Amino acid sequence: MRMRKKPNLIPRLERCARVGISEPERCRGRWAERFPGFSELFLELGCGKGRFTADFAAQNPKSLIVAVERVPEAIVVAMERVCEKNLANVRFILGDARLLGEVFARGEVSRILLNFCDPWPKSRDAKRRLTARGFLALYAELLPPGGEIWFKTDNLPLFEWSIEQFEECGLTLNALTRDLHRDGPVSPMTDYEEKFFGQGVPINRLVAARE
Ligand SMILES: C[S@@+](CC[C@H](N)C(=O)[O-])C[C@H]1O[C@@H](n2cnc3c(N)ncnc32)[C@H](O)[C@@H]1O
Repeated sequence: MRMRKKPNLIPRLERCARVGISEPERCRGRWAERFPGFSELFLELGCGKGRFTADFAAQNPKSLIVAVERVPEAIVVAMERVCEKNLANVRFILGDARLLGEVFARGEVSRILLNFCDPWPKSRDAKRRLTARGFLALYAELLPPGGEIWFKTDNLPLFEWSIEQFEECGLTLNALTRDLHRDGPVSPMTDYEEKFFGQGVPINRLVAARE
């Protein structure tokens, strides 16, 4: 996601500090203790500007949503959205998904949400895709048996490639569709999804479950 530098980035991040986690490694193995009262923890990777994050959190008030994003200019918009809506069940981590193993212990995450991750179309960059086998092995460490990865993308080649990765990693695929909104809009949508939906681009979606 290319973005112009947002003015006043630091003061804006500071104003939303209550929904950010500055040393997430300290929560490892202790998320339920640090954030009591939630039935489960959902992890969203690459939340971008957070339209989905805020709407999904509002729909799931009993779940803690932890959203990870590595671009400060994007995450600040997501944090502002959540603060404006006064949502108590969202926390943000500014950082790279590669470091998840340092932040979450085995089985601590019930569901991973992957929405419109960067396709990295060149095969030499395939390892960077958030559905690459290296990432799936990392996710399998965080999810309990039966834990799920919910994946949406407009990019059909990425979707087909990801299906192979999921299957090779022994994940069971459910709710697979290559046109999620065929019978009308399914909310919540992400910022990218709204744009593609408006252009009539079909959205691919699946749920991959751990054994
Ligand atoms: C194409 S955008 C989609 C944003 C949002 N999910 C949506 O659907 O509107 C992909 C986002 O993932 C973030 N991202 C990509 N790789 C990441 C990684 N390894 N760790 C954290 N964020 C990442 C990018 O910075 C970008 O904001």
